[in-house]
Amino acid sequence: MRKKWSIAAASGILVVSAAMLLAQNTSWLTGTVDQKFNTLAGIQPGLGTVMIEYATRFGNIYYAAQAANWGMAAYQLKEMVEIQEVGETTRPARGDALRGLEQGALKPLALDIVNQDIRKFNTDFATAVAFCNACHQATGFGYVVYKLPDQPEVPAKLDTGQKFTTQELQTILADVLK
Ligand code: HEC
Repeated sequence: MRKKWSIAAASGILVVSAAMLLAQNTSWLTGTVDQKFNTLAGIQPGLGTVMIEYATRFGNIYYAAQAANWGMAAYQLKEMVEIQEVGETTRPARGDALRGLEQGALKPLALDIVNQDIRKFNTDFATAVAFCNACHQATGFGYVVYKLPDQPEVPAKLDTGQKFTTQELQTILADVLK
């Protein structure tokens, strides 16, 4: 009998806590549908947040290429361009400069990755860094000077010894190469 009561009490507590959780989860999104959309739009990542991921992936591309993990380099570059597109959407005024960097500096890197050409990759990487910093200057963020980290930031083994075909790399980078 006692056991029954404590089970009933426990499930009562569960129901109440679930209800409290649900109420908490939705109570911040209030107002009309338009107001809710505006609230959601207001918390989409701007360029500052996008640039953190952008720069992290950029450094990872470099280290993956040095380790001849061209699959990982291709993947990181593809993801870098995807987060760039978020920036183009939320900060349309910066869109042209970002697309300019993609065409002028990231596409050459994509080709170097597909060709598994480390010498050309290293030259084109340096050109891309100059491009990044030129945009920081032009947008009033001249104090943001990109520096390659001492270590890759991706928590994954880079020197896997795997081999990649041109076709495989082209497939990963299809959106960047077009
Ligand atoms: C549109 C021009 C533009 C290009 C191209 C650009 N950036 Fe940025 N970057 C910015 C702006 C603007 C900021 C400041 C973000 C803000 O607060 O709005 C920034 C900020 C940063 C930051 C600081 C992020 C933080 O808040 O901690 C880093 C790191 C960075 N960029 C790296 C890069 C790298 C690496 C590249 C090239 C691969 C690059 N950026 C290309 C415009 C650009």
